[in-house]
Amino acid sequence: MPPETQAPLLRVSALTKRFGGFTALDNVSVEIRPGERFGLIGPNGSGKTTLINCISGAFRTEPGTVTFRDEDITRLQPHMRTRRGIARSFQIPRPFKSMTVSENLMVALDFAAVTDEAASAPQRRDTMMSILTRMGLASKADVSATKLSQVELRKMELARAMATHPKLLISDEAMAGLSSSEVDEVLDLLMSLASQDITIIMIEHIMQAVMRPKSWLTSACRMPTLALSLAINDLDAGYGAVKALRGVTLHVEAGETVALLGTNGNGKSTLMKCVAGLVRPQRGSMSLTIDGMTHDLARLSTEAIVDLGVALVPEGRRLFPKLTVLENLMLGAFRKAARRNIDRNLALAFETFPALKGLQSQLAGTMSGGQQQMLAIARALMSSPRLLLIDEPSVGLSPLLVSQTIAKIGELNQHLGLTVLMAEQNFNQAIRIADRGYIIVHGEIVVAADSVDELRGNDIVKRLYLGGIA
Ligand SMILES: Nc1ncnc2c1ncn2[C@@H]1O[C@H](COP(=O)(O)OP(=O)(O)O)[C@@H](O)[C@H]1O
Ligand SMILES: [Mg+2]
Repeated sequence: MPPETQAPLLRVSALTKRFGGFTALDNVSVEIRPGERFGLIGPNGSGKTTLINCISGAFRTEPGTVTFRDEDITRLQPHMRTRRGIARSFQIPRPFKSMTVSENLMVALDFAAVTDEAASAPQRRDTMMSILTRMGLASKADVSATKLSQVELRKMELARAMATHPKLLISDEAMAGLSSSEVDEVLDLLMSLASQDITIIMIEHIMQAVMRPKSWLTSACRMPTLALSLAINDLDAGYGAVKALRGVTLHVEAGETVALLGTNGNGKSTLMKCVAGLVRPQRGSMSLTIDGMTHDLARLSTEAIVDLGVALVPEGRRLFPKLTVLENLMLGAFRKAARRNIDRNLALAFETFPALKGLQSQLAGTMSGGQQQMLAIARALMSSPRLLLIDEPSVGLSPLLVSQTIAKIGELNQHLGLTVLMAEQNFNQAIRIADRGYIIVHGEIVVAADSVDELRGNDIVKRLYLGGIA
């Protein structure tokens, strides 16, 4: 029977999960049918792992229900859900380090208590070995878990989940940080499990990885980008007697790519610096609402603004030329919150810019302009941003590189759910990826357009950019 005609295996209805005043999941409903390979895709912080924790029982939910094989399991303890056939692998593999691979698996077998209580030790060892064989780990059975490579650890995570004989296997970012051939290995493995009647939910924040074999997923759910809103109102800023911004009013909403367009010296960088806390406005207001809390950016330090999830890719890159690529990247993770996610963000940076991976020990100053721009953006990714401010990414690049850089920024928005405010002089390139835009002239917003079409049709724009005087 094709999956869509069958009753759902798992039904999540109107699930809400709050942590204090912060709503991590807001009224989420998902249905997964037997035999599906279901992708759960969304940016950092969109609630993917929280949803999995609610399905597996690690978190209590209220309100909302979770139904598995027509049984309401909302109030069941995690281990009871495991016995009903729900297994998960963890984003960060947590093997028992003092144990061998086979001992790790035995623990999982005992935990699920799915093997016959009376099963003899040799029978249990057979079950365990057959799982290890299917996972391609048979030769590692007696190796200490600490000796496994990253991809082997991921496989052991999946093997431990398989030891509970799941009907539903939830794989939490099983591929983050792996090379592309390793990703293929893990995908093949998941595919072989799927063909053995196991329904699979796969979580990925790196959408490219999920989408690589396009036919892999039977369906997918995009987790929403969380509420984020930048509101700038009547802002003045300047340098001594120089007035750089005059009454600027502008807003950026979650998931958007907004272009701030203007030629040289019109105030674009000043506005970006104000948002990042590097230039203090003289008048007006600037607030960022994120996860339900509104912050007055004019009162916060640059560091506090970074902590909120705002990253600036400055004009001219501002790399440290005498430091290596890796050292420059690490400087992007200087805040405590970002340091906790270094491995994951580094993997994300290299996934986004594979060319940087081989250049890690090269001095930033010796790289080409295109490579430096990649590095500057990658460095910003190291701080786990939600709002990316990019100041003139195209400056100093060849037309081909401009086009590639702009496309890459579009991908960051589409694949990672990053909200983007981009300052550009290159109108035609910027509108390739922008949802809408503003034109700034002499520090004033002279056009605020709700769409790219509206921008193109605007008389001022036509005069400035499209054939008129530049
Ligand atoms: N550090 C500074 N000191 C004095 N004037 C500045 C400084 N930075 C920018 N300006 C002036 O502010 C105005 C806006 O500049 P800027 O924000 O850099 O524009 P854009 O990024 O659009 O090129 C210009 O008149 C510029 O000369
Ligand atoms: Mg500028």
